[in-house]
Amino acid sequence: MPRHFLRDDDLSPAEQKEVLALALELADDRFAKRPLEGPRTVAVLFDKSSTRTRISFATGIAELGGSPLVMEAGSSQLGRGESIADTTEVLTRMVSAIVWRTFGQERIEEMAAHATVPVVNALTDEFHPCQILADLQTIAQHTGGLAAGEAALAGRSLAYLGDGANNMAHSYLLGGVTAGMDVRIAAPASHRPDPAVLARAEEIAARTGGAVTLTEDPRAAAAGASAVITDTWVSMGQEGEQGRGEATFAPYQVTEELMALSGGVFLHCLPAYRGKEVTGAVIDGPDSVVWDEAENRLHAQKALLTWLLEHPDEHTAAHAR
Ligand code: CP
Ligand code: NVA
Repeated sequence: MPRHFLRDDDLSPAEQKEVLALALELADDRFAKRPLEGPRTVAVLFDKSSTRTRISFATGIAELGGSPLVMEAGSSQLGRGESIADTTEVLTRMVSAIVWRTFGQERIEEMAAHATVPVVNALTDEFHPCQILADLQTIAQHTGGLAAGEAALAGRSLAYLGDGANNMAHSYLLGGVTAGMDVRIAAPASHRPDPAVLARAEEIAARTGGAVTLTEDPRAAAAGASAVITDTWVSMGQEGEQGRGEATFAPYQVTEELMALSGGVFLHCLPAYRGKEVTGAVIDGPDSVVWDEAENRLHAQKALLTWLLEHPDEHTAAHAR
């Protein structure tokens, strides 16, 4: 059985710590690991646009000694109706891992069910778990008290403001509590997280000492938070949807006043829309760590791929869900 990484809770708290420790190590010494020497090929498939994910996986796979095969999935026969099962059967006979950015989570779950190599979620409508690994690494790097190789995140808080129902909100919930963090989601009543994800986050928090807070008050969420985070109000595929404008989300814009309330750092997965979910003064200001966060995609994903390839025989935590 290969290990897959389809959602944030596919890594146990101890496993997530191992991956983050390796990410920190790779940030210091980029060529410390060469698990793809050969070169072995990793397929990186996109059903949606991407800048960071595409560049960081292509670069990271090459730095691990491998050969990245980056493809628009729509230009393969998948785009003409070949099934996910048949596509996976072919891929899995040739490549060492598959990374996929797609729409519904059920699509990547289906691929994983047919794959004999690790499958990694590079963003679905529901989750963006690779981004959260990079974000946790960034928070650990910037909020102090971090011994080499040890991501000291437990007990810290992160506040995510804006669309509480999107992939980033869901991944902060699961990934944050896995790290033992206090995850605060401030969102309008119309855009709350999926109740099943909230319940799962609460279950994990009960074991890790983390916590989950859902509020409509951005100030309450930001107060004293180690990190204040936001994301676009219109995710890929949601263009043209009703109720995604300023009338819904304006109170959740991250401003200098909210940052002052927090005293923490500002993160954004990017791409960012200045004047919408965040002011230019915040994202381009002294509390912003968004460029380190973007760079950490490289280190975190290299760590993840290395870890998955080194743990082929253990069951993915997803089996316990
Ligand atoms: N944050 C992120 O995933 O960026 P891309 O969409 O550019 O890959
Ligand atoms: N929520 C955003 C994240 C982009 C990286 C989207 O899905 O478009």
